[in-house]
Amino acid sequence: MSQTITDLRLFRFRCYSDISLKLDNRAIVLTGPNGAGKTNILEALSFLSPGRGLRQAALDDVTQNSAAAGSTWAVSAALDGMRYGKTRIGTGLDPAALAKGSKKRIVKIDGDARKGQSGLTEYLSVVWVTPQMDRLFLDGSALRRRFLDQVIFNFDGAHLGRLNKYEKALRERSRLLRERGADGADPAWLSSLETVMAEAALSIAAARLITVERLQKAAIENHLHTDIFPLPVIRIEGWVEKALEKDPALKVEEDFKELLRRGRPRDALVGGAEHGTHRSDFMVWHKGHSLLADQCSTGEQKGLLMAVTLAHARLVAAERGFPPILLLDEMAAHLDEYRRKTLFEMVFSLGGQCWMTGTDKELFAPLQGQAQFLDIENAAVTASSSPATDDFSAATDNPDKEEEKESGSCPQTP
Ligand SMILES: Nc1ncnc2c1ncn2[C@@H]1O[C@H](COP(=O)(O)OP(=O)(O)OP(=O)(O)O)[C@@H](O)[C@H]1O
Ligand SMILES: [Mg+2]
Repeated sequence: MSQTITDLRLFRFRCYSDISLKLDNRAIVLTGPNGAGKTNILEALSFLSPGRGLRQAALDDVTQNSAAAGSTWAVSAALDGMRYGKTRIGTGLDPAALAKGSKKRIVKIDGDARKGQSGLTEYLSVVWVTPQMDRLFLDGSALRRRFLDQVIFNFDGAHLGRLNKYEKALRERSRLLRERGADGADPAWLSSLETVMAEAALSIAAARLITVERLQKAAIENHLHTDIFPLPVIRIEGWVEKALEKDPALKVEEDFKELLRRGRPRDALVGGAEHGTHRSDFMVWHKGHSLLADQCSTGEQKGLLMAVTLAHARLVAAERGFPPILLLDEMAAHLDEYRRKTLFEMVFSLGGQCWMTGTDKELFAPLQGQAQFLDIENAAVTASSSPATDDFSAATDNPDKEEEKESGSCPQTP
């Protein structure tokens, strides 16, 4: 195993007031009843990458409910990494910003505050799949765009900045058009906003196109390894992306600006902008059935989601030179025994530290000896031996069992 979190601390993070987990380089299996706090641990890990975590939560929703007003959450991890060796990464809701009424994340590497979140990707990548993502193919395109952009964050630290720049210019243009109308708004001001949008859109679309191409290649490689999940055909569709596939970037930029200019009357009436990278869609087909994912069965959709996620993990490993931390929330439950075993083998072959959750520890029996098993109940985490040697119901009563309550020392605020 090459990229390992050896120590994870959660402070005022959802149901956890203060926990510290010591880990070795094996996979981690978190099991416990519904509501115990399993997904919250994965969510904390997902905050070690840029963005809003695996629940796309508002930053202040994450702070433990019972914490005093003005409190903030923090997650801190000791990473034994391939590139920089031992590093401590901290993140959380910035207390100084919160005191001034703004909610932003603070990121610290070895105690030094970093500007923005993109520096996190220098040190590690985190890839996840959760049951909530089952909606990926059924809901609107915003969710899928976010999914693809999250993939890009792993390779391209500037992508978040481009998206923010584009969104800000789009919002400002929409406000002008709404308040003053297409004829009343200052044309020079509108043009300069459209220029910002066009420049950013070109970079966004180029990053998405190249990532989709690489993701497709990784999906095919995974499929050669095992075909337990359907082979996805992946595309990004949108005006800018389509234009970029046939014309040079400079021409597309000019054409897109012109499209925005001509679209002002329509956009003033309807709001937003009719075309642009904010409307592109990340499309996934089931290769075997030649069907779009939303027309596939529930099981096939789950399979496609797993295939795309594992392609993402393979892509990170290939491009970054180190495998991602992989978070699989409740993924074992819906697979038959053969698929489960094959999934575990595949996950191990990718080589990154993998965190898995489930309510039924027995499903993870094939991982005996290869994983650390942690039981969670009411936000209390206890280490236990693997399922095949456990009498689960008596786990806490058996004096012979090696059981260790994880310590609760106060983590450093990042
Ligand atoms: N901000 C918060 N403060 C305190 N508790 C919270 C906060 N947000 C969520 N919780 C609680 O955390 C608990 C654990 O949630 P989590 O999603 O981690 O459970 P889980 O073990 O994954 O359960 P399941 O098996 O149902 O998915 C829930 O009871 C939830 O109400
Ligand atoms: Mg859960």
